[in-house]
Amino acid sequence: MIIVIDGLSGSGKSSTAKAVAERLGIQYLDSGALYRAATYLWLAADQHKEKFFEILSSKDIEFEYNDNRFVVYLDGEDVSIEIRKQQISEHVSKVAAMPEVRQFVNKLMRQAVKSGHFIADGRDLGSAVFPDADLKFFMEASIDARAKRRHAELAGEGETVSLDEVKENLKARDSVDKARKVDPLVKPKDAYVIDTTTKSFDEQVMEISSVITERLLTNKNQ
Ligand code: DC
Repeated sequence: MIIVIDGLSGSGKSSTAKAVAERLGIQYLDSGALYRAATYLWLAADQHKEKFFEILSSKDIEFEYNDNRFVVYLDGEDVSIEIRKQQISEHVSKVAAMPEVRQFVNKLMRQAVKSGHFIADGRDLGSAVFPDADLKFFMEASIDARAKRRHAELAGEGETVSLDEVKENLKARDSVDKARKVDPLVKPKDAYVIDTTTKSFDEQVMEISSVITERLLTNKNQ
């Protein structure tokens, strides 16, 4: 079973998806983390395309969801903290717009969900990666609400970035994600849309969990 949550950067997709996975006892897959890991390699390759593709194809990329943490390993090294840094956020949309990178990440994800029950979050999962997903959600929130949340998150991780910088980065990522030629961010027609601007975290987790339970888990048990 694959449930997907797509939406704008900072709309709360990953924290919500994780909490839902925890409540329902299913696996969580963070597609953004895989694009971030690719970006880590992009920077390691000094932003040199040829060198980057060489590194990308030779690296052993593994990931797992354990104890409420989505962990990414590159040749056995845990890069989960590094890939959340602002420097990665500044380059990730560009890397994620490369068709070769999208193909690479999509293949990793399709392979991973072959066995087990998953909830995954991203930008194009319901539209391009898993068009036949069992259930699709789309999360949105105002730019101010998203910037505030992301700023608090970064501050909690010890990064000193201003609220304005975070807001500008979110806006820039929104426009690149929506405008890119390959698999842009779109709202799938068959997605359940949830606007989290004025919702508390618990409310959004409850709403999504209830929809899943009503629409999927109940049907499966009948
Ligand atoms: O969810 P996130 O902010 O960690 O994602 C990082 C970047 O990866 C985001 O700016 C857009 C890109 N991304 C994407 O293009 N497609 C996805 N399915 C997930 C993320």
